[in-house]
Amino acid sequence: MKHILHVVGARPNFVKAAPVLRAIQQTGIRQTLVHTGQHYDHKMSDVFFTQLSIPDPDVNLGVGSGSHAAQTADIMKHFEPVVLERKPDIVLVYGDVNSTVAAALVCAKLLIPVAHVEAGLRSFDRTMPEEINRIVTDRISNLLFTPSEDGDLNLKHEGVEQERIRRVGNVMIDSLIQLLPAAKNCPKNGFPDRFALVTLHRPSNVDDSKSLRRVLDSLVAVSGQLDIIFPVHPRTRQRILEFGINVERLHLLEPMPYIEFLSLQSRASVVITDSGGIQEETTYLGIPCLTLRNNTERPVTVELGTNVLVGEDKSKLDAELGNILAGKAKKGTVPPLWDGHTGDRIAQILAGL
Ligand code: UD1
Repeated sequence: MKHILHVVGARPNFVKAAPVLRAIQQTGIRQTLVHTGQHYDHKMSDVFFTQLSIPDPDVNLGVGSGSHAAQTADIMKHFEPVVLERKPDIVLVYGDVNSTVAAALVCAKLLIPVAHVEAGLRSFDRTMPEEINRIVTDRISNLLFTPSEDGDLNLKHEGVEQERIRRVGNVMIDSLIQLLPAAKNCPKNGFPDRFALVTLHRPSNVDDSKSLRRVLDSLVAVSGQLDIIFPVHPRTRQRILEFGINVERLHLLEPMPYIEFLSLQSRASVVITDSGGIQEETTYLGIPCLTLRNNTERPVTVELGTNVLVGEDKSKLDAELGNILAGKAKKGTVPPLWDGHTGDRIAQILAGL
């Protein structure tokens, strides 16, 4: 292996790529970092590069927002010449965002090997754009780095040969372990001692006015028992404004940097979310997590961790919240290989190719 090219584009990619970049750096293999520009706001991108000590991208495709087709196609068009010019031996893609599938497609057609970090996850819900991205990316990747046993099993059921699958653990947890001490030192900044931390950005929850109203109404009801701290994704903020929903009782904040958000997660009484990565981070931290979805591509967080799927069921949300506030929250354990060394395992495998 002489030259590895990494592709990142959206917020969760940055958290996943940082430990892999660092571990490969130790091996002396040449690396190139491409940012597609899918996320471009300072708060959604630059601040993550700084806090996670990610080097400046060698190339930024500057693609920005658009419909799924437009965004994916733009990334492909701008990425292809970069790959042709830089001639990497392998391309690493992360997670399940549009940047991931777009880059994998370009490489597959140019016969450049692709390794997918966080492979094998399945929600079995094809209405989620990320599920399509996961299925396609895994299908055309040469090497599949899985975070947990369910990932391996899903791939085997789809007929993937065992030699392509490498269970390496959860790379997001590498970043968490590295920056948890800094998060613990964050000042409280006037946040209350007890609070629920909320994040919400899935199209199924926020793009439809009825669904968004229903979720936010449930949260307003929760705010009677517990302060709600809600860093708002730009997509969600746009929808709240567009639909004219009254959210006065919720503390809406701008998207938060990684360390400050980790600090809030580690101190929250409960986290209420529809994010994938946050289900994993709360499991590691042992913080109760109520997920506003009917399914999860991360079932290990439910089986072993602190995660409970409450879907759209307000009575389930209330009942679970009641348990947590009464000190009867679900207890969990940390899944195997979520140990802070996933980046090292990936680097070792790549160095041995
Ligand atoms: C993307 C991922 C999702 C991931 C999430 C993390 C896909 C299909 N989805 O969703 O899996 O959990 O990132 O945040 O790739 N916007 C800004 N500034 C930005 C980026 C986006 O204002 O820096 C706004 C734009 O109006 C844009 C909207 O957010 O249209 C949605 O952005 P997009 O990249 O399409 O997907 P996300 O919802 O962020």
